[in-house]
Amino acid sequence: MTDETITSQVSERYARAATTGEQMCCPTGYNFEDLKSFIPEEVLKISYGCGTPAGLETVRPGETVLDIGSGGGIDCFEASRRVGPTGRVVGLDMTDAMLDIARRNAPLVAKNLGHKASNVEFRKGMAETMPVEDNSIDLIISNCVINLAPDKQKVFREMWRVIKPGGRFTISDIVSDQPVPNYLIHDTEKWGNCLSGALQAGDYLDGLREAGFVGIHQAKFIPWQVIDSIHFLSLTLTGYKLPETGEPNGVRFATLRGPFSRAVDELGQVYLRGVPQAVNARTAQLLSTPPFDGLCLLSEAPVSLAQSDPRLVAITPDQAPCVWEGHFALFTGPFLEVCDDDQHRYLRGMPLEICSKTLKVLATEAYRPHFAVINRAAVPVTGAEVSCNPTGSCC
Ligand SMILES: C[S@@+](CC[C@H](N)C(=O)[O-])C[C@H]1O[C@@H](n2cnc3c(N)ncnc32)[C@H](O)[C@@H]1O
Repeated sequence: MTDETITSQVSERYARAATTGEQMCCPTGYNFEDLKSFIPEEVLKISYGCGTPAGLETVRPGETVLDIGSGGGIDCFEASRRVGPTGRVVGLDMTDAMLDIARRNAPLVAKNLGHKASNVEFRKGMAETMPVEDNSIDLIISNCVINLAPDKQKVFREMWRVIKPGGRFTISDIVSDQPVPNYLIHDTEKWGNCLSGALQAGDYLDGLREAGFVGIHQAKFIPWQVIDSIHFLSLTLTGYKLPETGEPNGVRFATLRGPFSRAVDELGQVYLRGVPQAVNARTAQLLSTPPFDGLCLLSEAPVSLAQSDPRLVAITPDQAPCVWEGHFALFTGPFLEVCDDDQHRYLRGMPLEICSKTLKVLATEAYRPHFAVINRAAVPVTGAEVSCNPTGSCC
């Protein structure tokens, strides 16, 4: 299939869905009772997302928000409520039938929210060539759209172009745990269902980084479907376009608090837990973004953390035999790679097989937000106990 064929079939698919209101796609997690209080049913019934990017707390009053692949407008209207009358929302979609519904409902939503006029504008256009000015957007949201675009890297580059320096994105999308084979890629039905076009999670995260974004990390993870042992997941990711020149913020050193014993950030800086690391102004900017809150101590002078320091976080596994149950852990940032206290090295977006002991470690509050865990065992396994290695450490 050519890119043009994919795009026209996807557009036809969503034009049909807009007309029939058929049920499609993925888990979202919306509070529909709340949304019903200001968004008409016509919009809610064609919600085809796979997450709740606009519902996330990061949207602030007065901001300019762009929704890529806005569909019937559900997330634009939620963003409209959050940015308030001083903010602005642009919804972008390639399908006329979707745009018609969204535009028709914009004045009704404005009235329900008590706004004098709608602060939402719906534009026709492609995610790969957005009709949006450079450096004009505070926050990009997108809900289950980029997987449908044949050239994701073009979309990521466009996102970088239109976001203001200092701006960010929060996008929900379907990714897979392993590359999707050709026989699924060329299945148009599955492409339209947000499956065949999914990138392997690591490729998706790398693509965003190649476009220039940093601080990329998981905001939410929902398991979706398993087809021919390929796991498809909904990931909501946030990332940042750092300002070009950082205001000196007084930060000269960073000390990794844990839970990781070692970490490498997206700018290549390596950190060892408890050991102060001199950082340059760019790294200081990166570490000052929200996903690093609690992970690093930032200071003007070096700060070492002793093992007994309550600010240091280390989680060691139980001293027990391993049981392999089919679990794989996918590290989702904000570092590029990290190590735990049991010789595992996790590369962002790459599944690593883990045993029952490590599963327990990754379920702790300190680790949980940084991982998506899947189970690849198609049928229950016997789970014989094994001793991992001669030193007694795990796996
Ligand atoms: C799965 S629906 C999601 C709609 C909406 N975000 C929601 O949560 O309900 C995908 C939407 O993206 C649009 N779309 C798909 N690929 C696109 C592209 N390359 N450029 C612009 N819009 C696209 C489709 O027309 C459709 O409205």
